[in-house]
Amino acid sequence: MFIGLDLGTSALKGIVIDEDQRVRAEATAPLSVSRPADGWSEQSPADWIAAAEAVFDALAAALPLDAVRAIGLSGQMHGATLLDAADEVLRPSILWNDTRAHREAAALDANPAFRRVTGNIVFPGFTAPKINWVRDHEPRLFERLAKVLLPKDYLRLWLTGAHVAEMSDAAGTSWLDTGRRDWSDDLLAACGLDRSHMPDLIEGSEVSGQMRAGLADRWGLPRDVVVAGGGGDNAASAIGVGVVRAGQAFVSLGTSGVLFAANDGYAPNAATAVHTFCHALPETWHQMGVILSATDALNWFAALAGEAASQLTADLGALVAPSRTLFLPYLGGERTPLNDATIRGAFVGLEHATDRAAATRAVLEGVAFALRDCRDALAATGTSIETLLAVGGGSRSDYWLQVIATALDTPVTLPVAGDFGGAFGAARLALMAATGAGAEIATPPEAARTILPDAGLTAAFDAAHSRYRAAQSAIKGLT
Ligand code: XUL
Repeated sequence: MFIGLDLGTSALKGIVIDEDQRVRAEATAPLSVSRPADGWSEQSPADWIAAAEAVFDALAAALPLDAVRAIGLSGQMHGATLLDAADEVLRPSILWNDTRAHREAAALDANPAFRRVTGNIVFPGFTAPKINWVRDHEPRLFERLAKVLLPKDYLRLWLTGAHVAEMSDAAGTSWLDTGRRDWSDDLLAACGLDRSHMPDLIEGSEVSGQMRAGLADRWGLPRDVVVAGGGGDNAASAIGVGVVRAGQAFVSLGTSGVLFAANDGYAPNAATAVHTFCHALPETWHQMGVILSATDALNWFAALAGEAASQLTADLGALVAPSRTLFLPYLGGERTPLNDATIRGAFVGLEHATDRAAATRAVLEGVAFALRDCRDALAATGTSIETLLAVGGGSRSDYWLQVIATALDTPVTLPVAGDFGGAFGAARLALMAATGAGAEIATPPEAARTILPDAGLTAAFDAAHSRYRAAQSAIKGLT
């Protein structure tokens, strides 16, 4: 058996699969985000450990874990977890959707070496600019900084005692030479760091270490359980849904929204604001457009409306053309294609007829239009998407999937019931690490059904997207 752990933003999820990749147990522990100032987004690493303990408790209660051979890790990317020389956490982790370091990011991005070596814009949410922010705003902490870990690699430190990262997540730090799959000494030096501050690098399907005996004993796992490299949550999800070769793509509707395509080689085009990262398997890469608020936007609106998000979407009925009301989902700035940390969201075209259902539809449409912008940015790099698999909590809304299929004029396939996200992908990476298997075991899930674009409504969605783009230009610089 193999365990996959996915350290998400809103929850930590654990999954147990058997040798035939059948899911034998699942457990989830919720996590919350603290936003102490505008643009900030933090979590305490101690909460991750508490969530992991709760998940192990639940998994061990569901079935004996004595046949587990390996654990794989998936996690929210980019978070800066700062440790001192004794591995004590120096401050709350600064997460992927935290944009406080936008000035530091722009300054690093102005150094052409960053785009040339990493293949990406230095986005404010990436790890490197956050370290410069800490250096300037919390110099006492910076002096004590000995190691920077990504969120799931902090979980690995707890599990194994080792400082190890893998390529797919490391590619989101702005310190990795993404083509060569190694830390860049020059980019580290530009942030006052060197290799000693970095974990060792391995591939996602390699072994990073052994589970500490005390933890293995606590939940009844064998003493020789290994922990695989794993992947950043998007790369791990791709392994979960079998997106490993060019031509395969998925859309993830999680806290963030991601349009992810696997590539045959390394072909960056930073100016498009598309992310080009290592994949979780050796010698493979991927590209993705990332929007910062997908289910985050819907949950924000649901809290305002005083209704559960699932109820809001369940009440919508059949797909209709967009109304005059538009929603721009830039609640915490935007990455692809805008690279704008200061832009904020908007409802545009509110009228007396804008009731709760119309506003809900506008939110779902706005996220779909933002994903359409990502699709266009990917196309500008030469990556075309023919069909999409849908994953993530938002894919439970049929209405949302119909909106995405029609707004992007692209069929959207829904896997059969089950979880094919980061935790499942991480469990597959664990299987690979323990058995030496490779990409051949990362097969696509069985399709439950495919949602086709509604041909009668594509023109109306095109027109609404044009208005969305106009509104986007109009609100730039307003906040
Ligand atoms: C990817 C990104 C997000 C997080 C969410 O670049 O920032 O998708 O990984 O967990």
